Amino acid sequence: MKLKDKVALVTGSSQGIGQGIVLRLAQEGANVIINYRSHPEGAEDTLAKVEAVGGKCYMAQCPKSHGFTIKADLGSVSELQQLITESIEHFGKLDILVNNAGIEKHAPFWEVTEADYDAVMNVNLKGVFFATQAFVQHLIATNRTGKIINISSVHEELPFPNFAAYCTSKGGMKMLTRNLAVELGALGITINNVAPGAIATPINTKLLNNPEKLGALLQNIPLGRLGQPQDIASMVAFLASADADYITGSTFFVDGGLLWNYQEQ
Ligand code: BGC
Repeated sequence: MKLKDKVALVTGSSQGIGQGIVLRLAQEGANVIINYRSHPEGAEDTLAKVEAVGGKCYMAQCPKSHGFTIKADLGSVSELQQLITESIEHFGKLDILVNNAGIEKHAPFWEVTEADYDAVMNVNLKGVFFATQAFVQHLIATNRTGKIINISSVHEELPFPNFAAYCTSKGGMKMLTRNLAVELGALGITINNVAPGAIATPINTKLLNNPEKLGALLQNIPLGRLGQPQDIASMVAFLASADADYITGSTFFVDGGLLWNYQEQ
């Protein structure tokens, strides 16, 4: 168990990649905070699965479960600050922050509305910025080190037509990680990105239901399949553990080879 006695908050963990990460971190011994915005039933489902595995808490009166669910919209700075505060109160500390919550909106660039641009940037970039800030303030106040893992995308590098705001947010996340690796290094805090390719999760529902599009995408994936949440979760568990103590400021692509598969026909 790589994460025994650690406390981890995973944003956006009522479904998809976030749920997979929570389960894997709990299997590694961590106490986990499950965050949701609009799917309490998904968060409860995640919690029920977490309750089957072990962990340890740090409060005088320990909660019965090694998991806990909190509602918060990562697009709101006041809500995410409250989320960090409640997470710390619940288990007595926080060691690992996984910035997983993310959204995307499909539209040609010339039709993107200000509301859609703001929605994407608020969750994917501003939310990550201020959640990380609140976490770092907690680590400084308690004089401890910690680990930050951002769930980015192959689209922090790779253009994705019709998703301009999404790509902009992930490109920003890449630079935030590099900047903070330098700024937080002296505090012993590491920060890295995990960049998934095409993963079978609710964000890809439309694609999964379109055999033609799905077939074309699979042609572009050298390993010949979509990723699963556990493919991402195993990289996160590694980066959250002491095995990754000397790693900071990097992006790890978990994409079946998708990113570099340009082929001329
Ligand atoms: C997006 C998916 C897309 C995948 C591969 C992800 O970042 O969220 O919609 O299928 O990248 O292009």
